[in-house]
Amino acid sequence: MTLDDWPASGAFHARSAIPGRSLRAQTWTDTAGWPPEWTEITVKAYPRRPSVPLPDPAGDHAVAALLDRRGSVRTPTGPALPLVVLAALLRYSCGLRTGSDRPPDVARRVYPSAGARFPLECYVLANRCAGLAAGAYHYDTVGHRLATLSEADLRGDIEQAFGFPWITSSRAVIVLTAALRRGAIKYADRAYRFALIEAGHVGQNAILVGETLGVPVTPVGGFADEPLNRVIGARKDGEFVLYSLVLP
Ligand SMILES: Cc1cc2nc3c(=O)[nH]c(=O)nc-3n(C[C@H](O)[C@H](O)[C@H](O)COP(=O)(O)O)c2cc1C
Repeated sequence: MTLDDWPASGAFHARSAIPGRSLRAQTWTDTAGWPPEWTEITVKAYPRRPSVPLPDPAGDHAVAALLDRRGSVRTPTGPALPLVVLAALLRYSCGLRTGSDRPPDVARRVYPSAGARFPLECYVLANRCAGLAAGAYHYDTVGHRLATLSEADLRGDIEQAFGFPWITSSRAVIVLTAALRRGAIKYADRAYRFALIEAGHVGQNAILVGETLGVPVTPVGGFADEPLNRVIGARKDGEFVLYSLVLP
């Protein structure tokens, strides 16, 4: 089964893919050429409606501080990423929920999934990770381990897919894919919507965990789809890349 078995998802995915072999062909990669309307930020307001002032949230709790601190970083952040930090990022972005009161259960994860269909898969393109050879890896959610897909310098592939030096030289890129069939057999085309939403949940987890550990996590949706699918061997069984999280 492929994406074409769910016509609306397949058509939308194809229309929203960045075609070709390189991101650089996109007009929006050149910030100097951006028209003003691309940088104007629109905010909805109801100035003629009565308004209710809200109390100060007194954000004196851990998550509030993390959220106030977060921000996308696009500059190199330091030496090789310790494996224990990568492990924490993976485990608490998309791993299994565990607790002293219950054994690990494949249906209980740190992020929610529509109908517990869990269409997402997670990969790592390691570039500068201490204790991990450069290469492509798949995160085994149940076993909390990385399966080696290739041990190779992937900077050329990352450059081709993303086209920005700060990503090419990043410590690692976490890549989220959707194996759409898992949801589509139940939800048909709506599974596509759910997969996108779930990738957002995982991404935000990664951002918050990274902020806790002092490792910026920058979400990146701008990549040429096919080069990235190729480097992790997706595109089989309707699996395709959705989103990436760069660890600069
Ligand atoms: C879905 C999504 C896709 C994004 N894609 C890119 C990208 O391709 N390149 C990039 O540099 N930043 C990307 N970003 C980061 C945004 O540019 C950034 O979140 C936005 O400018 C707000 O800044 P902040 O994250 O520092 O708050 C993306 C963010 C999201 C949520």
